[in-house]
Amino acid sequence: MKDRPRRLRASALIRGMVRETTISPANLIQPFFARPGKSQRRPIKSMPGCFQLSVDELVKEAKKTRAAGVPAVILFGIPETKDAAATSGTDPNGIIPTAVRALKDRVKDLLVITDVCLCEYTDHGHCGHVDGDRIANDPSLQTLARMSLAHARAGADMVAPSDMMDGRVGAIRGALDEAGFEDLPVMSYAAKYASAFYGPFRDAAESPPKFGDRATYQMDPANALEALREVELDIAEGADIVMVKPALPYLDVIRRVKEKFGRPTAAYCVSGEYSMIKAAAANGWLDEKRTALEILTSIRRAGADMILTYWATEAAGWMG
Ligand code: PBG
Repeated sequence: MKDRPRRLRASALIRGMVRETTISPANLIQPFFARPGKSQRRPIKSMPGCFQLSVDELVKEAKKTRAAGVPAVILFGIPETKDAAATSGTDPNGIIPTAVRALKDRVKDLLVITDVCLCEYTDHGHCGHVDGDRIANDPSLQTLARMSLAHARAGADMVAPSDMMDGRVGAIRGALDEAGFEDLPVMSYAAKYASAFYGPFRDAAESPPKFGDRATYQMDPANALEALREVELDIAEGADIVMVKPALPYLDVIRRVKEKFGRPTAAYCVSGEYSMIKAAAANGWLDEKRTALEILTSIRRAGADMILTYWATEAAGWMG
């Protein structure tokens, strides 16, 4: 036999030499949920190991994340109040601007990314403004732009719109440029699917829609060409990094986006991807560390440059 692939699998050393895909803490982004109050660490039931954190606790956790070698965090807000206009989301002293200022002040050398979306701040839980039973696209753009500006003014290093309204990257880019934030990058949730895998997150962010669902703005899981169109539009509007979300069920989409556009590409390994492994591990059915590292490596192999994952800090530890 001339070809014997097993020759290059004979030892850990030789396997290391021929390994095609690498993953390191530098590729990871840790999501956090910020809430009002002090000394608050509220466990999120459906996401074991994750917490809603008051800003003082968030600072402590972010220091651990940075010390583990993870360069960036992404923040989600649980505001004091919600209303139809998402007022708390554009407040310069709201939960996210407050958290951003604290992190920039107290954690050295950390990239602070903010999620920009209305669903965390609206009483109806939709990602845009509501007009009757419709989600009104264009009126939402201005609010998203104002939210981005509030985050930028607080010192955010990057904004990440996750609402899936048409034209929001352009609206946000325009508002940032006009206010002198032309160097602030935008990471767009460009191909974001209407996914059942967000279930546990809606517990975490207390943001399930009160009526209907998100299928009129998030993408149909059956579509991949449409994802390429979404990414193309966001790049044309000024997105610096494009994201595919969720990750594991959409590895083909990650691959196609990376191949077609060659842009810095992020993948969001979402709450359901995390919680299903946690649940199986708690039952002794899967080895969490090995499974998580295999999933994260696969997402990199598919073409993602960076991965947003609830495992980020812990996985950085596993990577040594
Ligand atoms: C807000 C948003 C969601 C997630 C990130 N940003 C929820 C949703 O769209 O329903 C999901 C993240 C996760 O499940 O880990 N629009």
